Amino acid sequence: MKTKSFKEKLNEQTAFIDGYLDKYLDEKDNPQNIIYKAMRYSIFAGGKRLRPILMMNVCKMCGGDVNEIIPFACAIEMIHTYSLIHDDLPAMDNDDLRRGMPTSHIKFGEATAILAGDALLNKAFEVVSDYRGDDVKRAVKAINMLAVSSGTEGMIGGQIVDMESEGREITLEELCYLHLNKTGAIIRSACTIGALIGGGSDAQVKAVDEFAKNLGVAFQIQDDILDIIGNEQELGKPIGSDLEEEKNTYVRLAGLEKSKELAYVYSENAKSALAIFGDKADFLIELTDYLTKRRS
Ligand code: IPE
Ligand code: IPE
Ligand code: MG
Ligand code: MG
Ligand code: MG
Repeated sequence: MKTKSFKEKLNEQTAFIDGYLDKYLDEKDNPQNIIYKAMRYSIFAGGKRLRPILMMNVCKMCGGDVNEIIPFACAIEMIHTYSLIHDDLPAMDNDDLRRGMPTSHIKFGEATAILAGDALLNKAFEVVSDYRGDDVKRAVKAINMLAVSSGTEGMIGGQIVDMESEGREITLEELCYLHLNKTGAIIRSACTIGALIGGGSDAQVKAVDEFAKNLGVAFQIQDDILDIIGNEQELGKPIGSDLEEEKNTYVRLAGLEKSKELAYVYSENAKSALAIFGDKADFLIELTDYLTKRRS
């Protein structure tokens, strides 16, 4: 039997998760139908599905059943997509292209975009709190991790520091804090929820957390780099948006070459953290390399 390539595995997993998102976001024929349309529009505009894919693969790597994690994997993509809808609003980054399509507020207007973001956040917690598995205690812990990582000590915390530091220069240390929160926190919880539901030991959860912490920073550094050297067509979002909004980015503070070097160092550290898993970590190691070289 022919072994599947990394890209084939990635496409297969994306399709798998999209099938469940489609079910969870079933459109209803009622007076509020437009909210379903707006939620589905942003979810199915595209997206790499990185967070669900990380969660599913960590779960598998720890010996868990991927089917157990489906509600969490879908919920984290809903939360991520909500964060993008709000991130693009005129009051925030003011961007008009996302996942290769006009942003939610361009397509539906600001009020509907705000509500579509809110609705995706609510839907995420509706889905995970409807958990039907055996280990309810573990599920509640995972729901808590999801909430904390999306909140004031996670993504929202990072987003507010990002907004507050627009137009003034911060230190590289402060920028790392910002990236660890705005992007790193959800990537981290994607991985640690995967380890928890997958039944990972304490040592495995710790290794996974170290992997995710480094991957999250590497991922956002690459995002900063692509804002400068990327291509709008490939990336599906505008180039130069960070400059326009006077954002603090790695490229601005450290320069392009140093940023590339740092992204490499963080992703190498991420891979090293998975050593205890042996060849069970092969897919996640390939994924880390793939993300460091990504153009989208
Ligand atoms: C974009 O995330 C926002 C960041 C946190 C850098 P992704 O690059 O994962 O966006 P999608 O999901 O593929 O659209
Ligand atoms: C946003 O970071 C991260 C979120 C929490 C949404 P960016 O503002 O850099 O993300 P992009 O570049 O618009 O995708
Ligand atoms: Mg932003
Ligand atoms: Mg943005
Ligand atoms: Mg960016």
